[in-house]
Amino acid sequence: MNINGMLPDKTFKDKVILITGGGTGLGKSIGEYILKLGGTIIITSRREEVIEEAANSLNASYPNSVLGIAGDVRKIEDVENVINKSIKKFGHVDMLINNAAGNFISPTERLSPNAFSTIIDIVLKGTCNYTLTLGKIWIKDKQPGTILNIATTYALTGSGYVVPSAAAKGGVLTFTKSIAAEWAKYKIRCNAVAPGPFPTEGAWSRLVPPGFSKFFDIKKRIPLKRVGEHQELANICAYLLSDYSAYITGEIITIDGGEWMYNAGQFSWLDKIPSAMWSIIEKTIRKKSK
Ligand code: HXC
Ligand code: NAP
Repeated sequence: MNINGMLPDKTFKDKVILITGGGTGLGKSIGEYILKLGGTIIITSRREEVIEEAANSLNASYPNSVLGIAGDVRKIEDVENVINKSIKKFGHVDMLINNAAGNFISPTERLSPNAFSTIIDIVLKGTCNYTLTLGKIWIKDKQPGTILNIATTYALTGSGYVVPSAAAKGGVLTFTKSIAAEWAKYKIRCNAVAPGPFPTEGAWSRLVPPGFSKFFDIKKRIPLKRVGEHQELANICAYLLSDYSAYITGEIITIDGGEWMYNAGQFSWLDKIPSAMWSIIEKTIRKKSK
């Protein structure tokens, strides 16, 4: 599909947006769209070379609009450093996207305590670290702010084999609603997006190992029969960050081609019934109803 951007060109003019995990995958795609809409971004993650390369390539298209700073969302001193440097450079940070994540598939009984807490620390505590540090500055300066948390659909349903991620992302959703309720009085909004499958190197290498596609075709799980395109996610993220959604807070928007609902639905399997057979089924049911 050829998906276009949906917001007007200057939507993020004079706005500074900090994106954790913004050097790769979905974070980078969202950042690129924000740049297209006139915004300035800070991208941060652990690998300095990845952040530097991403910042250089984005700055080539959008000069002086991207600051890359390495840092670990788990370490509060890194979080403070990223935020302080961003404010020093741009004067303010207006919006935050908590996008950094760690994940891999594994039977839960194989996980060490450290494996479990590593995921919780990146996903849930990383989100809390950035929100708290930046939120305190916004509140002190009486500055409005907007937060967008990137969750997943299984944060709502739960899922085996990604239990630490599901638990952490579930926490992120509750955090989203709780902070939204409490900080609305400071003109701080907080929403979340729950994406289904959007191919990225980072996610696919850890969740869809080579050879897996022989056993299951992800598209078959999705009633719209395709995976998501990055621009589709960028559109909804940009909307939730922008003033076009100024009256929305504490909301979670799912974007998954209907995947989770389809697989939760008790009768979705009836898709497999050929249409000719429905006449027989209908006749039988009508007869019984009489
Ligand atoms: C079991 C594992 C493991 C695995 C690591 N560990 N990989 N255990 N199976 N495959 C264990 C380690 O042995 C260690 O425990 C602990 O986890 C921490 O591992 P480290 O490698 O030391 O941690 P770190 O270097 O911090 O790396 C974190 C990581 C890594 C999460 C393990 O994968 C990473 O850097 N990921 C970042 C990017 C990412 O995950 N992207 C995907 C997001 S997709 P011990 O006890 O040995 O010390 C997503 C949504 C998907 O979130 C939804 C799709 C539809
Ligand atoms: P990705 O490219 O692997 O993105 C994860 C990013 O987080 C990387 O840039 C990584 O960079 C950064 N990161 C990991 N640990 C970090 C830490 N401790 N401190 C700072 N940064 C850290 O994968 P993605 O698919 O784009 O995922 C982006 C977001 O979308 C995640 O929140 C994920 O859960 C969510 N999501 C993705 C999908 C999908 O289908 N792709 C579906 C649902 C939800 P470094 O390694 O350099 O730190």
